[in-house]
Amino acid sequence: MMTPVFLFFLLSSIFTVNAQQGQSIVKPGSILTPTTNSSWLSPSGLYAFGFYKQGNGYAVGVFLAGIPQKTVVWTANRDNPPVSTQVTLNFTSDGRLVLQSAQGTETSVANFDPASSASMLDTGNFVVYNSDNQSIWESFQNPTDTLLPTQRLLPNDSVVLKSSVSESNQSTGRFRAVMQQDGYVALYPVGTNLTLEYGYWSTSNGVPNGNLNLDDQGLLYVTNSIFNLTVSQSRNSAKGTVLYRLRMEDDGFLRLYSYNLQEQNGSWSIIWSPLNETGVNICFPRGLCGVNAFCDPGGNDINCTCLPGFVFIDESKRTSGCERNSTTENCNEKGMNTTMEEVSGIIWENLTYNRSVLLTKQDCNDACLQDCSCEAALFNDEVCGKQKLPLRFVNIKISNDPKETLAFIKVRTSTPSSDGNVTKKKGLEILIIGVSLVIFAFIVLAISGIAIYRSRIFANENILNTGNIVLSDEDVGPRSFTYIELEKITNGFKEELGRGSFGIVYKGTIENGQKIVAVKKLERLLVDREREFQTEMKVIGRTHHKNLIRLLGYCHDGPNRLLVYEYMCNGSLADVLFKPEKKPSWDERMGIACNIARGIFYLHEECVEKIIHCDIKPQNILMDENRCAKISDFGLAKLLKPDQSKISTGIRGTRGYVAPEWHQLKCPVTVKVDVYSFGIVLLEIISCRRCVDSNLPEEEAILEEWSYRCFECGELGKLVNDEEVEMRQLERMVKVALWCILYDPSLRPSMKKVLLMLEGTADIPVPSNRSFVSQYDQGFEENE
Ligand SMILES: *[C@@H]1O[C@H](CO)[C@@H](O)[C@H](O)[C@H]1NC(C)=O
Ligand SMILES: *[C@@H]1O[C@H](CO)[C@@H](O)[C@H](O)[C@H]1NC(C)=O
Ligand SMILES: *[C@@H]1O[C@H](CO)[C@@H](O)[C@H](O)[C@H]1NC(C)=O
Ligand SMILES: *[C@@H]1O[C@H](CO)[C@@H](O)[C@H](O)[C@H]1NC(C)=O
Ligand SMILES: *[C@@H]1O[C@H](CO)[C@@H](O)[C@H](O)[C@H]1NC(C)=O
Ligand SMILES: *[C@@H]1O[C@H](CO)[C@@H](O)[C@H](O)[C@H]1NC(C)=O
Ligand SMILES: *[C@@H]1O[C@H](CO)[C@@H](O)[C@H](O)[C@H]1NC(C)=O
Ligand SMILES: *[C@@H]1O[C@H](CO)[C@@H](O)[C@H](O)[C@H]1NC(C)=O
Ligand SMILES: *[C@@H]1O[C@H](CO)[C@@H](O)[C@H](O)[C@H]1NC(C)=O
Ligand SMILES: *[C@@H]1O[C@H](CO)[C@@H](O)[C@H](O)[C@H]1NC(C)=O
Ligand SMILES: *[C@@H]1O[C@H](CO)[C@@H](O)[C@H](O)[C@H]1NC(C)=O
Ligand SMILES: *[C@@H]1O[C@H](CO)[C@@H](O)[C@H](O)[C@H]1NC(C)=O
Repeated sequence: MMTPVFLFFLLSSIFTVNAQQGQSIVKPGSILTPTTNSSWLSPSGLYAFGFYKQGNGYAVGVFLAGIPQKTVVWTANRDNPPVSTQVTLNFTSDGRLVLQSAQGTETSVANFDPASSASMLDTGNFVVYNSDNQSIWESFQNPTDTLLPTQRLLPNDSVVLKSSVSESNQSTGRFRAVMQQDGYVALYPVGTNLTLEYGYWSTSNGVPNGNLNLDDQGLLYVTNSIFNLTVSQSRNSAKGTVLYRLRMEDDGFLRLYSYNLQEQNGSWSIIWSPLNETGVNICFPRGLCGVNAFCDPGGNDINCTCLPGFVFIDESKRTSGCERNSTTENCNEKGMNTTMEEVSGIIWENLTYNRSVLLTKQDCNDACLQDCSCEAALFNDEVCGKQKLPLRFVNIKISNDPKETLAFIKVRTSTPSSDGNVTKKKGLEILIIGVSLVIFAFIVLAISGIAIYRSRIFANENILNTGNIVLSDEDVGPRSFTYIELEKITNGFKEELGRGSFGIVYKGTIENGQKIVAVKKLERLLVDREREFQTEMKVIGRTHHKNLIRLLGYCHDGPNRLLVYEYMCNGSLADVLFKPEKKPSWDERMGIACNIARGIFYLHEECVEKIIHCDIKPQNILMDENRCAKISDFGLAKLLKPDQSKISTGIRGTRGYVAPEWHQLKCPVTVKVDVYSFGIVLLEIISCRRCVDSNLPEEEAILEEWSYRCFECGELGKLVNDEEVEMRQLERMVKVALWCILYDPSLRPSMKKVLLMLEGTADIPVPSNRSFVSQYDQGFEENE
């Protein structure tokens, strides 16, 4: 059997007669021309940098010289027209790489500081070095439509894979693949914002700050060096025998190809594509059929149809869009009958030049008809948006919402024989029937999971509602007590239960000794204590959730401020967790974690005014007689108005649990500070130890760092002291916790997501690398 390297040489000697033989270093002064010495080969001869044929001329790029197909993987100045045989590619003595025409014009092939050498590597990367032998430019960092093994796509919106016009024309096409900062790989048309509205496919999960990688086994994965998200499976091919490439293609899909070098007459075969996923069809790419046209997902091939009154711009290339059947510029031209057609089941990009409130669809219809500039209109919920051409991203509508958007389009017909000519109208009817059928088919498909974008991310809302069924037996607001009453209830403040963030808690009984309560006496009455009292009253008075402590009463009597709560006989989570004799079982601990998460979720998302607790820690989580966790101590909480998502405030919370953004000046805090604290508490719940414990060996003292290290080393057992737990569940919990304590608040999940992940409903997306800058690493100012 031939060795692959030998094969490369054999192939290259057969197929690249003009190329300079496998030299690894190219020095200034070297030149290439399209006809002689047309490329620089990589050492094995597999890849070449240089001229390749494009259309009637040549382009400069990187291609697979070692295979007969000469597959192009990178192109310089891809949108410039092909060059003639009269040009020279000159690696000038002053270290530039330029194309020089016979007329003397120069075009830069790539922009970099003066270079000392360049090299076509066997990976397919063309690299330029400076005099210190450092890489200053790489084709891998400036991708066109292809990703090769060892090449990475970074989370940078301006470095993306953009499709080519066609297999043989490498100019920029219409679609792009983006490695998003949120860690999802997503597909969008070119020329839109990167928003949900335009994206048409994404991976089912994300790895924040991850890179998209392809390895030499065809494994496509997103990684941030801690977590991996596998996009396509590894093929386990013998090293060097199979080539792989990922390409963003002109039909809007990514495809991963393999090529077996050991086969004679080898060819590229598709081994992965989003199209292989259920619920994805060839019409997914937005704008696949060009403007004023839509794609019919019925068949196996792309089937483009023009909107009524439009014809294909290029009948031989139907994906290039449609244009008006009539060339009329003047909308009131004689002999033309202008009408509005309602096109059901179709929608297009909502980009209006004029929006008005109109009551009926007929009003909208008429408004467009009477406006010469109006070519189409969308009507939804008494809003009529008039639009001009072209209509982009025309799409078959998935929803059958009764308040759905109606679409109208202006259609012009010649009048003279219009009454006798019904062909056109009939055609339209057929179109509408056709479209309706298609919609039906589409809805069926939709049910089987088409709305991937939204549903994947927001799956299973119901699960969240199981936790907050309000017990309505004592559904009355907190009552007011006098100081004397409370003195009696607590037997003269005799039995102390504990000390909260700003007060002492005493035991008491009400209802003739039937019911035990906890009475919190706020110590001093300073201005901010008053505010805290008010906050606690406001916050807790309006919450009702089984995982939040209930406020039964309060006292606002002269200088005295007291709060009366239901009594939690099992003390706080800290009492339970950190006392070996009371240590709950693993399952119980998981239940506690979920209950806390439900309580926080309720505060964040289910209250009219969002509530940021700001001081989530085990001491503030109380355990009732069934050891059900309830969040307490709302004195530091912050209320957000319904339209508010962040708030500026002084630092609050407790060392060890406060999110790093508290320490950034002027950095507004969001609900994500609670997510951070929850993450720390979760780690404590997992390992039944405090987040900082200086009695432990130094490397274990700080729980977040130690957990992180154990996770990295795959030694999670250490975290639970080798307690018998289900490893997969343990890993899951630790991942959720690490994800919650990410340094960047925007990368932390919402509590909703946390809950889904804890309950095992959502896959666990994977947090990023040393975004876990520990708070202990950054000049930490304490504020208790
Ligand atoms: C190709 O380049 C090599 C080295 O630069 C040179 O020796 C050789 O003469 C060139 N061949 C042609 C046909 O120009
Ligand atoms: C390469 O470019 C340099 C600078 O522009 C020029 O002096 C030199 O003659 C060129 N070489 C060839 C072979 O054209
Ligand atoms: C540059 O680095 C390569 C390998 O990294 C080495 O082979 C080569 O000798 C170096 N060249 C110089 C000028 O240092
Ligand atoms: C993204 O890529 C562009 C172009 O290569 C570069 O200028 C920019 O600095 C990159 N941004 C980040 C955040 O790396
Ligand atoms: C992109 O978003 C910006 C701001 O939201 C907006 O001004 C712009 O029009 C958008 N562009 C496109 C192509 O939608
Ligand atoms: C991710 O996958 C790559 C390729 O298989 C592997 O090299 C790397 O170690 C993995 N990283 C993690 C954190 O699993
Ligand atoms: C994916 O679909 C393509 C056709 O669209 C097919 O050729 C290929 O074999 C499929 N790959 C897998 C892994 O199913
Ligand atoms: C293409 O779509 C149109 C309407 O959506 C339909 O009438 C026609 O039969 C389809 N053609 C093919 C070849 O599927
Ligand atoms: C519309 O196109 C048809 C043929 O496709 C043509 O017969 C008809 O005259 C056109 N109508 C107008 C108004 O241009
Ligand atoms: C224009 O077309 C509409 C419907 O197609 C028809 O009812 C109307 O009589 C036509 N008007 C003229 C002036 O032909
Ligand atoms: C179009 O977008 C605007 C806001 O951008 C919205 O008010 C309007 O309802 C949308 N129209 C339709 C039909 O969705
Ligand atoms: C009227 O219909 C005939 C076919 O029945 C068609 O050839 C002709 O182009 C139509 N005329 C107009 C003005 O649409």
